[in-house]
Amino acid sequence: MKYTKFDKSKNYDLNIVFAFEDNLSAIGKTLGKGPAFDDVQISINHKVISGKTGSRNIFTSKRYERSYYIVGLGKKSELTIQVFEKSLSAVLKEINTYNVSTISIDLTNIRIKNFNLLRGSITEIEKSQYSYKKSKLTRLKQCALKILPSLESKQFNIISKESIAISNGINKARMLGDTPSNICNPTYLAKEAKKLEKINKNIKVEVLDEKQMSALKMGSLLSVSQGSKQPAKLVIIKYMPVKNKQPIVLVGKGITFDTGGISLKPSANMDEMKYDMSGAGSVIGTMQACAEMSLKNNVIGILACAENMPGSQATRPGDVVTSMSGITIEILNTDAEGRLVLCDALTFCKKYKPKYILDMATLTGACLVGLGKYPSGLFSNSKELSSKIKKSAEITGDRVWELPLYNDYFDELKTNFADIQNIGGRYGGAITAAAFLANFTKDEKWAHLDIAGTAWEIGPDKGSTGRPVRLLTDFVMANK
Ligand code: BES
Ligand code: MN
Ligand code: ZN
Repeated sequence: MKYTKFDKSKNYDLNIVFAFEDNLSAIGKTLGKGPAFDDVQISINHKVISGKTGSRNIFTSKRYERSYYIVGLGKKSELTIQVFEKSLSAVLKEINTYNVSTISIDLTNIRIKNFNLLRGSITEIEKSQYSYKKSKLTRLKQCALKILPSLESKQFNIISKESIAISNGINKARMLGDTPSNICNPTYLAKEAKKLEKINKNIKVEVLDEKQMSALKMGSLLSVSQGSKQPAKLVIIKYMPVKNKQPIVLVGKGITFDTGGISLKPSANMDEMKYDMSGAGSVIGTMQACAEMSLKNNVIGILACAENMPGSQATRPGDVVTSMSGITIEILNTDAEGRLVLCDALTFCKKYKPKYILDMATLTGACLVGLGKYPSGLFSNSKELSSKIKKSAEITGDRVWELPLYNDYFDELKTNFADIQNIGGRYGGAITAAAFLANFTKDEKWAHLDIAGTAWEIGPDKGSTGRPVRLLTDFVMANK
């Protein structure tokens, strides 16, 4: 997609303008006092245009020879980046079915920080061009953005370039999440990671196989893949453009399919467990975006990849394994496998002396139950780190909600047969899962994002969302 600043001497196939229900007359300013506004005013008078959230009117001004798409955003004071982006995305979805190749979007009457609004708009446009099935081609080629004049062309170009890189990362993560598990297995993820080396010479990818992991004593991670024909992979993506600087380490759960293992899942919707590698997918997407932007920050991505299958070689409930850290684990439920692969990856990454460790995982159904589909669950042992993550979430609209890690939750992991067990009691499953991980990151500033609810969309738009790539790239950019 080509992005330009709005040029009033040019004609675009469709012009998107926003309307607020409590400030309808502001459309006058947007369209400029003239024939187009006069025509729209009639529709406002006839209450055809309401400005209510979700309302949309297509409107052609004959005298002015322009087509407008007037999009309601509700009350001006209540507008958030989520509402704005959701509305824009609905509009873009519809426009994709039209024959238009150029559009303009007027952002001048929206009170969200200039660069943020621009980022959000471009990201939505890029996202609207993604489709898992390549046959769904759209005709949109160019998009002109009308912004406040305070944003100079130079800045506009930087922001649009960055936004495209971030969106490419998001769409990459979506593609990986949508790819079925007969294709997207641990070896495939490792190959996808390896491809990143081509983008930027500062990216180096290493892949550890099961033999190497065995030598590192990753007994917990390997217990997950042992029931599958697909060998586990630990993938290390190093992006280290700066010397002598502690890296941010991003660790992703890469379960390419989660049957539950011997603690087999019920069959309904089990197809969705192909997205159980979304944590790893978000790490690949984020690393790609960082490399594409040539960020001056050191970032290391670690993917803990395995397939969780039942079988004669599979781990049994009650089995005790020794993790790389030396902590022994009683596996009471083989469906709590994410934490088993992550704990060894978390121990492994200590050797890079991370400034911060963030892990991303579709870890628990309990997180989905507790928080729904809007925020990712956030857990951390560091106030400093969690507030930085919340800040990025606020800015990008890629929301998080923090949950507590009281000692009581850790007590639920006690067992007579090992140092810890891999499940807690009946309640607070997202937190006991996080508490399990916290046992392995005591000496680092660590945060865990449970993305079970946010990485996947259900309903007519069923598919991978690419979250939290946006949050992560913002976090990396903000912590140089
Ligand atoms: N991958 C699942 C969590 C999940 C569930 C993600 C639904 C997305 C949608 C995870 O491995 C899992 O099975 N967790 C169990 C943990 C339980 C056995 C303690 C769960 O949430 O039921
Ligand atoms: Mn599971
Ligand atoms: Zn899982």
